[in-house]
Amino acid sequence: MNLETPDLGRSRQTDAALTTEYEDYDDTSGSYDNTRVPIGVPIVLDFLASTPTTLSEQTVLDAGCGTGSCLAELRGRIGTLHGRELNTGMQQVAKKRFADDPSVQIEQGSITELPFADETFDGIICNQVLHHLDSGKIDDGGTVDFPNVNKFFREAFRVLRPNGVLVINTSSHQQHRDGFWWAALIPEVIDRMVPRFPSIDRFEKIFQQTGFVGFETGVPVDEVLQGEQYLRPEGPLSAAWRAGDSSWSLATEEELAQAVNTVTAKLEDGSMAAFLKEREQLRAKIGQTTFVVARKP
Ligand SMILES: C[S@@+](CC[C@H](N)C(=O)[O-])C[C@H]1O[C@@H](n2cnc3c(N)ncnc32)[C@H](O)[C@@H]1O
Repeated sequence: MNLETPDLGRSRQTDAALTTEYEDYDDTSGSYDNTRVPIGVPIVLDFLASTPTTLSEQTVLDAGCGTGSCLAELRGRIGTLHGRELNTGMQQVAKKRFADDPSVQIEQGSITELPFADETFDGIICNQVLHHLDSGKIDDGGTVDFPNVNKFFREAFRVLRPNGVLVINTSSHQQHRDGFWWAALIPEVIDRMVPRFPSIDRFEKIFQQTGFVGFETGVPVDEVLQGEQYLRPEGPLSAAWRAGDSSWSLATEEELAQAVNTVTAKLEDGSMAAFLKEREQLRAKIGQTTFVVARKP
């Protein structure tokens, strides 16, 4: 990393039909696994184990599976796995990963339309995907609207078997502000990102409205989405590192340059360690992510 030439490379939009609105996962797919790790696997397995079918006989869908890193953690423990992924680049990485494994099927397409028969799955997992579905705009009635998230929930309900579970990993609004150290560098960006995430209370309502029962939450407080890369003080100066958190792709050129200047100054004047320590004290209390889970009756 050369501190004098920070990489201001931005994510670009390419094929609008097969990429998400604000992050170009075709660009990111090649390096995604360097800056993101699956978290909360024991929590996911506990929720899946709460259904009547033993894990080794279950059929489970990973909705928005990305490069398939979560599926790789479940492989060998769950009978049959399916991954559905919209983006071409991410889907290709996942498909290659499981090319020789007939127990894992990867398909390309949107999770708002699930081409599966009713009552196919014992469980559906969905990790850090739903903020890509809706912009969180205020509708005519004055409430934040999540039409595509609702569509996904209806589809998930349809393809789950009775007693099947929907296990979603998201971040609460407070986790957004205090669970990622760099959020303090780009507060206006986080303000724009947060409305894309239904609050935890809103998730509970969406579950209920769709017909799910037994709402529960779980927080993997000690795990971070970026794994060993998380506390790299010079991380924000690298486009590949920033690609590990889609908030950065909502930053304007000006906001990005400001964040890069702040990091560079903190590295030069020696104040970065204290800044990280202060930010980490907040994250240690609340974690980065929350699982929201409920069951089809
Ligand atoms: C932050 S990544 C998470 C990937 C993976 N679940 C993980 O935990 O590593 C978000 C993923 O959601 C995918 N995605 C966004 N909108 C989607 C949609 N409508 N249908 C399927 N996948 C979608 C993106 O292409 C991207 O791979």
